[in-house]
Parts: sequence; structure tokens; C-alpha cells
Amino acid sequence: MRVTITGAAGFLGRKVAARLALTGKVGARDITAMTLFDMVEPKPPAGAPFPVTCLSGDIANPADCARAVDRDTGVVVHLAAVVSAQAEADFDLGWRVNLDGTRALLEACRASGARPRVVFTSSVATFSGGQDAVIDDATRPVPGNSYGAQKAAGELLIHDYTRKGYIDGVTLRLPTVVVRPGRPNRAASSFASSILREPFLGEEAFLPVPESFALWIASPRAATDWLVHAAALDGKTLGLDRGINPPGLTVTVRDMMLVLQSVGGHAAMRLISRMEDKEVAAIVGAWPARFSDARAKALGFRAHEGLEALVRAFLEDDLAETKAMRA
Ligand SMILES: NC(=O)c1ccc[n+]([C@@H]2O[C@H](COP(=O)([O-])OP(=O)(O)OC[C@H]3O[C@@H](n4cnc5c(N)ncnc54)[C@H](O)[C@@H]3O)[C@@H](O)[C@H]2O)c1
Repeated sequence: MRVTITGAAGFLGRKVAARLALTGKVGARDITAMTLFDMVEPKPPAGAPFPVTCLSGDIANPADCARAVDRDTGVVVHLAAVVSAQAEADFDLGWRVNLDGTRALLEACRASGARPRVVFTSSVATFSGGQDAVIDDATRPVPGNSYGAQKAAGELLIHDYTRKGYIDGVTLRLPTVVVRPGRPNRAASSFASSILREPFLGEEAFLPVPESFALWIASPRAATDWLVHAAALDGKTLGLDRGINPPGLTVTVRDMMLVLQSVGGHAAMRLISRMEDKEVAAIVGAWPARFSDARAKALGFRAHEGLEALVRAFLEDDLAETKAMRA
């Protein structure tokens, strides 16, 4: 079976490709080939026990998508996207990449006749209600920004292409993934990674929200586990509702600062400063932080580790690469 990953040069795309190269399997099925697709040409993961084709192309271009999927494609992990603050700043680009791109990919899947499992990465941003909201498996998405609306629209495409039998889709609504290696990106939630990353590099990080602000987060390890688990789920157990809120972690900024102090000491804490950013606060302020994850747990998604383990995993997995990227 071929596995295709879109957005494969990005943060989670590289993690998922590396994980699958290590195991060589999705569930009980052997991976016999992998296609990595991104606007920027992706690099093959080290030590892959199967051939890897690296393609550069535009997800919103149907001809490019057609090259990424074939008759042998059993799994597509769809990660290519324009992230939240960028999608808010550039309305046309957000809809083109996040919705037209998803549709073009699903059309390529349909044309292939392979009926692949498509794992779509939706987001906490499909919901609103902010700090007071508690989201359960039946909560209706009411997005508070364009990125959330684009992801919610993508979820409906996954639903309908699955219902028609063109794909076998699963949507994972990912929390903010923290700590992101490398440099700050254009996600509105970028500060959540910055405050746990920059101080370990001896650099200053800015906090655009108060310490009491709560967020729903996940580690890269947990997000990767969930994406791989979603790729292997039995579609029959899901029924018509293909959207899943995974078991993320609810933390306040203060919780994050306490862990920063316990792992990095006072020197790390001193590198955090408050800086108001009304645009960022408006976007992330709409995102809920409290979720019930009963369905995800019943479907076997692994529970999240604690916050300190998340920070130590960043130091173990990604600090060296982050330093190298900035050298
Ligand atoms: N990281 C998070 O905190 C988080 C949270 C919720 C949802 N998500 C979703 O998960 C997915 C992966 O996130 P990530 O953090 O790895 O993002 P990322 O920005 O690191 O990677 C996205 C990749 O998509 C590629 N891309 C953008 N436009 C493209 C186009 N027109 N054609 C082809 N490729 C294009 C980019 O080059 C990039 O490599 C995204 O869909 C994102 O919306 C991420």
C-alpha cells in the first residue's frame, strides 16, 4: 500500500513521515511506497524501508494532486494548509489552499478509484466560545475566524466524499501543537510554543495573553500518534460522524510558566515578557480550551502525557534541530 502525505515538508508532515519510516506499517498493513507532497520539495525520511517519491506542487492545482495519489494509495494524511493568522490576513489564499486544495485532493482520490483512508487535520479553531466554553463530541462548530471556517468546510467535504464511498475519511480536530521546533510560524497560537522554546535557546519570548489564559494543546509526539492511529482506524466503527476531538491537554499559561521554571530555572523564566497583540488575542481568544474526549478515548486514541513530559520531549527530540536551524 502507498501512503501519501501532503504538507510533508511541514512540522507534522516530517514527524508523521519519520514515524511511518520507522514502523513500515499503518496498523497491520505494510507500507510498500510513500509519496511526500508539498509546495516546498520535501526530503525523504531517514532509513525508510520503502521507496519514497518527493513531489513539489500546489495542493489547489488538480493536476498536481493527481500526481500524488494512485490506484495503490491506501492512506492519505492531508496536512497541507495555510495556518491561522496567515489565513486571516489573506482571505483568498486561505480559502484557496485550505478549501479548494482539500477539494482538489479529494477529487484526485475519487479519480484514483482506490477509496483511500484520508486523515484530514482540522482544528480547535472550528469551535468558538473562548475561555468559558466546554466542547463535547456533539458540539456544533461555529468558527470565529476564516481558518476555522475553512477547516469546518473541509470537514463537510470529508463527510460527503466518505458517505458517497469515494474515500474513507477521518477528521482529527487537532489542539495547538506545542512545542513546535524551529522558528515562530504564522499561527496565531505561535506564542504557546515560543514561551517553551525560546528560553531554552537563551532568547526572549513574548506573551500576548494573560497568565490565566487557558489553551488546549498537544505534544508533537501525541499528535503524531493520533494521526497514525487515525490512519489505521476501522471506518465501520465510526459510522457517519467522522470528526474526532482527540484527548488533548488543557493548561493555563501559568501552568506552562511553572513547568518552564521547573525545567529551565529562573534564567529561563526571566526571558518571558508581556506584549499586547490585539490581533493574536482576538483569534486565540475565541478558541475553547476545555474538551470532553469520550469518543476519542473509546476509539483507542492514547491519553496525553503531562506538561513536564511534553517539555522534556521537546528537549530530547527537537532542541538540537532547532539550534541547528538557527545557527
Ligand atoms: N501545528 C498545529 O498546532 C496545528 C493545530 C491544529 C491543526 N493543524 C493542522 O495540521 C496540519 C499540519 O500543521 P503543521 O503545523 O505541520 O503546519 P506547517 O505550516 O508546518 O505545514 C504545512 C505545510 O503545508 C504546505 N503548503 C502550504 N500551502 C501549500 C500549497 N498550496 N500546496 C502544497 N503545500 C502547501 C507548506 O509548505 C507546509 O510545509 C495543517 O493542516 C494545520 O492546519 C496544526
